[in-house]
Amino acid sequence: MPQREERVIALYPGPAGERPLAGLYLGHDLRRRPRSGWPFFCSNFVASLDGRIAVSAPGEPGQDVPPAIANDRDWRLFQELAAQADLILTSGRYARQLADGRAQAILQIERPAFADLAAWRTAQGLARRPDLAILSRGLEFDLSPELAASFGAVLAITGQSAPAGRRAALAAQGAQIVLAGEDGVEAGRLAEVIAGRGYGLVFSAAGAEVLHMLVAGGLLNRLYLTLAHRLLAGTDYSTLAEGPLLEPAASLTLYSAYLDPAGLDGAGQLFLAYDARPGGAEP
Ligand SMILES: NC(=O)c1ccc[n+]([C@@H]2O[C@H](COP(=O)([O-])OP(=O)(O)OC[C@H]3O[C@@H](n4cnc5c(N)ncnc54)[C@H](OP(=O)(O)O)[C@@H]3O)[C@@H](O)[C@H]2O)c1
Repeated sequence: MPQREERVIALYPGPAGERPLAGLYLGHDLRRRPRSGWPFFCSNFVASLDGRIAVSAPGEPGQDVPPAIANDRDWRLFQELAAQADLILTSGRYARQLADGRAQAILQIERPAFADLAAWRTAQGLARRPDLAILSRGLEFDLSPELAASFGAVLAITGQSAPAGRRAALAAQGAQIVLAGEDGVEAGRLAEVIAGRGYGLVFSAAGAEVLHMLVAGGLLNRLYLTLAHRLLAGTDYSTLAEGPLLEPAASLTLYSAYLDPAGLDGAGQLFLAYDARPGGAEP
């Protein structure tokens, strides 16, 4: 029986009661979502009560996930989602931060702590690792051998306007260059190329701009949101979705809710999941 600290309280749907933290999102069994030959897109965020997913760190360029809300319990669930995927989406910004030593590996199922997730993929008959798609307009990053070794295939998905020199450089480093739009990636084209390559379950680990594209383009099926019970304030930050006002606003319906009272040194957090396109039907 897991220790009390390793458990969360299921709030919705009923019946309410304690559940082990480990296995919570594996139990969502995303690979059994209704299939129509069209990919199922999910994304994941950890946010503060005031909606921050990234803040600027003193003296550092750009933004990072706030250390005050990043935590191992949320990271366990992130790994459970990533481990289920056929394809993981990230951004050119991530590839640059990884090269600078400012980002951690997305998929960590090779670590002893997540050995059960590697075994789970094997038991499902899946490839040892999912593929990775790096979305970028400028392709201003390099594909390091470490990043390439962490995934199956690595796709660099971009628009027609991407510099030819950068396309050639990344192709020489082993990336598959995929064009899915004109000035950057367009949602409809992205879905077509992903479906055309036979990917069923797509997990986006990217941030606010990519989430906006997935929602505005009607692609997002499931949003996982860890709501950390902390307020951060600050003036230079990102929130979940950034881009033009969504009109009409995107409605999401609650799929599940768990309270993690032991998280964040007892401040706690909510593990929330929302359906954006119930049933995952093809647009
Ligand atoms: N708290 C959380 O759970 C959470 C989750 C994810 C990310 N974050 C944080 O949010 C911040 C931003 O992350 P992110 O850069 O992954 O998020 P993002 O805002 O979704 O992506 C931005 C980058 O992705 C590329 N991109 C976005 N839309 C594109 C399009 N339509 N076509 C082509 N390329 C496109 C561009 O790369 P190029 O510049 O290479 O063209 C752009 O710079 C980071 O600090 C990250 O740590 C937090």
